[in-house]
Amino acid sequence: MATLKDKKILLAVTGSIAAYKIATLTRLLVKSGAQVRIIMTEAATKFITPLTLATLSKNEVHQEVSSGASWNNHVELGLWADLMVVAPLTATSMAKMANAICDSMVVAVYLSARCPIFFAPAMDLDMWAHPANQANLKKLISYGNHLIPVGIGELASGLSGAGRMAEPAQIVEVLAHHFQKGKDLQGKKVLITAGPTFEAIDPVRFIGNRSSGKMGLALAKDALRRGAEVCLILGPSRLDLSHPALNLVKVESADQMYAAAKQHFPAMDIAILAAAVSDYRPKEQALEKIKKKSENLILELVKNPDIAASLGQQKQKHQLLIGFALETNNEEANAIGKLKKKNFDFIVLNSLKDPGAGFNHDTNQITILSKDNKIKKFELKSKKSVASDILDEAIEWMNK
Ligand code: PMT
Repeated sequence: MATLKDKKILLAVTGSIAAYKIATLTRLLVKSGAQVRIIMTEAATKFITPLTLATLSKNEVHQEVSSGASWNNHVELGLWADLMVVAPLTATSMAKMANAICDSMVVAVYLSARCPIFFAPAMDLDMWAHPANQANLKKLISYGNHLIPVGIGELASGLSGAGRMAEPAQIVEVLAHHFQKGKDLQGKKVLITAGPTFEAIDPVRFIGNRSSGKMGLALAKDALRRGAEVCLILGPSRLDLSHPALNLVKVESADQMYAAAKQHFPAMDIAILAAAVSDYRPKEQALEKIKKKSENLILELVKNPDIAASLGQQKQKHQLLIGFALETNNEEANAIGKLKKKNFDFIVLNSLKDPGAGFNHDTNQITILSKDNKIKKFELKSKKSVASDILDEAIEWMNK
């Protein structure tokens, strides 16, 4: 059975008929070792009483942002929790959470919480499919919250389709899995390339690209959180990171990134190549600033080393090599071409055609294509959540 021993779980209940299942969910959470505190919207109390949930959770149930001395109980609860789960989440509360309409205890705590937030929507099928709800759902996911997917089946309306709240046992499994992640890369060494490369033309100018390093840093942070030792080879980026288990190697050019990657790769279990490496560099690098003399200036470019392809050749059986593909057209075909050419185990495709994906955004939308011809598509999410999805996939591969 899933364990949540000593975890502080804040359960937020909103007004759906699925709220009757929250008695079971509370019991399962308590049984799995969690400390449970519950907050409810007024609408939720029409479906299940605060007394029932207070009895099962062995804690007072909160419904209102208090006044007087304890007016800031929403902040205290938000800070107390290791994890907040909103179940069931109605269309109304989803809209309020997505748009910071802070007129209930549930939304006040949600906005104040610093812990990971999971939500399990419950709606009728047409309501669930409505573009307005789907837009709010996307917003919530893009803020880094975690969706516990709806089930498909018979609905309270008598209709059948997608929209049922996930079953209480499934919700407990998802939450327990989240905490297990804390250790699933313990003892592993992970190499990550991130950011752009700058290829000098002269002491002043360079050929570069728009990579910020955010995707690679999100990967490094998640790998560190999961207990890995991380070697992050970072091209010129404004971002920085420090951690006792991090070896940060700062480089400027593709040649330098290549040298660092070749040096560190043999000791690694996993390498994830998120850097946007310049494919070409100027053949000559002027020692002094090039003066503006003629109408045209022709730069001769030569190919840079392909870091990914080189690591793909050296790769040992126990090592996992993961690439990225940044595409603008023919996305999947191009990504599969790179997957094969560079000997990746899987490749993470992001397309500049998808709004919110690629360079510099805090979000990304990815498709994972693997060498066993499987394709997994993901929604637009925060780069933090995307990093977690990629590392989940890496762990699945390591356990094969
Ligand atoms: O840094 P951000 O602003 O957060 O943006 C993230 C990102 C868009 C840079 C990232 O998500 C991404 O897509 N990185 C790969 C960008 C890229 O250059 O892709 P590519 O399709 O050109 O290269 C394919 C793969 O080969 C990549 O894993 C790349 O790191 C690697 N490569 C490419 C050329 C080269 N000379 N050496 C390499 O290792």
